[in-house]
Amino acid sequence: MADASLQRPEGTAEDWTIPQDWDRYSPAEHAMWDHLFERQAGMLPARVVPEFMEGLKVLRMTRPGIPHFDELSERLMKATGWQVVAVPGLVPESVFFDHLANRRFVAGRFIRTPEQRDYLQEPDIFHDVFGHVPLLANPVFADYMQAYGKGGLRAHGFGSLDSLARLYWYTVEFGLIRQGDALKLYGAGIVSSYGESIFALDDPSPNRLGFDLERVMRTHYRIDDYQQTYFVIDSFEDLLRQTVETDFAPLYPRLRNEPELATDAVLPSDRVYTHGTQAHARAKSAR
Ligand code: PHE
Ligand code: FE
Repeated sequence: MADASLQRPEGTAEDWTIPQDWDRYSPAEHAMWDHLFERQAGMLPARVVPEFMEGLKVLRMTRPGIPHFDELSERLMKATGWQVVAVPGLVPESVFFDHLANRRFVAGRFIRTPEQRDYLQEPDIFHDVFGHVPLLANPVFADYMQAYGKGGLRAHGFGSLDSLARLYWYTVEFGLIRQGDALKLYGAGIVSSYGESIFALDDPSPNRLGFDLERVMRTHYRIDDYQQTYFVIDSFEDLLRQTVETDFAPLYPRLRNEPELATDAVLPSDRVYTHGTQAHARAKSAR
């Protein structure tokens, strides 16, 4: 998403956008998209929140080939007033937030190579577009993303981006949602990953805890492996209630005085769906 220490590369516009240059994708790159799409689309229907599948359909993302941003934007615009724009890679935080606040989602235009099929560090077009864009067709989630952008510009001013970034991580990227008795996926970092789409729901290793705004904003996260804790929202409406309808200004100084929480912490006050064994994280660190 964002990084503060970046220089705008030559050839990018003032707002860091670049043309997608859709005609430049090779047949092998389209085939990589199709491969990743097939793999996720086969497994996700039973696991992902139905709004995600609905988004794929509304945006006609079920057709083969790397999607054309102009066409996605046209359909998104009709659904929720959002657009998708291309950027060269990570962009500065303020640029990222400003796009979101104006209902523009910034996406990388490159696609991973065959060697990077199961792991890559920088988000590519499959993560950014397959993972993030379908839910932007949902009006409630679309409003959350815009509010997050506005909140980011505000948090920037308060010097509190760290706690706000955790909220993004544990919702937009790695969120779970409760549906009746079942848990479903909605975070883009999960739904664009074959391994984590299974791990996040089925593995006994991670904690699955009820979403609580201040709790989440105090919790560290991992960028090098599957998450050790997932937070479960009750609905997108509830997520909006807990975030958009809360003024974060008095919250930031309070959070600064409270201890931060480890990636695997479980507190007496947590609403526990799974108290994880953390076997996966332990096996990894023993290696
Ligand atoms: N309500 C937050 C604020 O007062 C903004 C926000 C909304 C942040 C939604 C994140 C998500 O700053
Ligand atoms: Fe992402």
